[in-house]
Amino acid sequence: MKKILSLILVLSLCVFAFAACADKKDEGKTEAPATENDVVSEDKDTAKEDKGVIKMATNAAFPPYEYKEGDKFAGIDVEIAQAIADELGYELEIVDMEFDSIITSVNAGETDFGMAGMTVTEERLHEVDFSESYATGVQSVIVPEGSDIKTVDDLAGKKIGVQLGTTGDIYSCDDFGEDMVTKYSKGADAVLALKGGDVDAVIIDNEPAKAFCNENAGLVILDTDYAVEDYAIAVRKGNTELLDEINGALETLTENGTIAKIVRKYISAE
Ligand code: ARG
Repeated sequence: MKKILSLILVLSLCVFAFAACADKKDEGKTEAPATENDVVSEDKDTAKEDKGVIKMATNAAFPPYEYKEGDKFAGIDVEIAQAIADELGYELEIVDMEFDSIITSVNAGETDFGMAGMTVTEERLHEVDFSESYATGVQSVIVPEGSDIKTVDDLAGKKIGVQLGTTGDIYSCDDFGEDMVTKYSKGADAVLALKGGDVDAVIIDNEPAKAFCNENAGLVILDTDYAVEDYAIAVRKGNTELLDEINGALETLTENGTIAKIVRKYISAE
């Protein structure tokens, strides 16, 4: 009887130990039976967390970065912003405005971030925080075919058209004097003024310059780069939470090739 009792004791100890062991193995398992944990991990893989609306301030008159196709927004920045929003679990809302108003809007908290082929500059860094750069831009000079302006130096004494508040505006005022610079609310308006002979040259970012020249016969881009710049996303100064989120998403989207794919869709390799 004693033997039987101790056998039962040993057996039940074994069962207990086995159960404990099995329990341990289940800890941290992903494919555990349907529990609350399961639902959460499934959510992570499919739909991202729903964090509500995130508002992007832009100036949708800057192809191929942002422009309108009918009543829809299109372009490199629009698609990268959508990918960032998807990655972070936000619903993207795009607010179109003058380029010159973007920083004010972000700082007033009317919009969450500014993305508009926006160059990182010392001055802007006093007003907003910038994400890591996601693209490079080059300030280019557009002139009519056959113009006597062949280099950037030839711009001295000439009438220059720019988009208000852009680096093209800032640099040309610094280099050639405010009096020589006419500021338009859109780059396309500066290009129209060039066609109409109101200005002798337009200074604008290289990809929009190409897009505008493709649409307007008789214009050429000078072979000299006026300035090379980094494009980045602007957030309200001190909004490190959003900045970190955006930088994290940019890193993921760079590593998984999404950004390169979006850029290739709009800019063919030369
Ligand atoms: N890269 C230039 C700047 O930051 C021009 C950007 C203009 N962007 C626009 N969406 N209009 O000043």
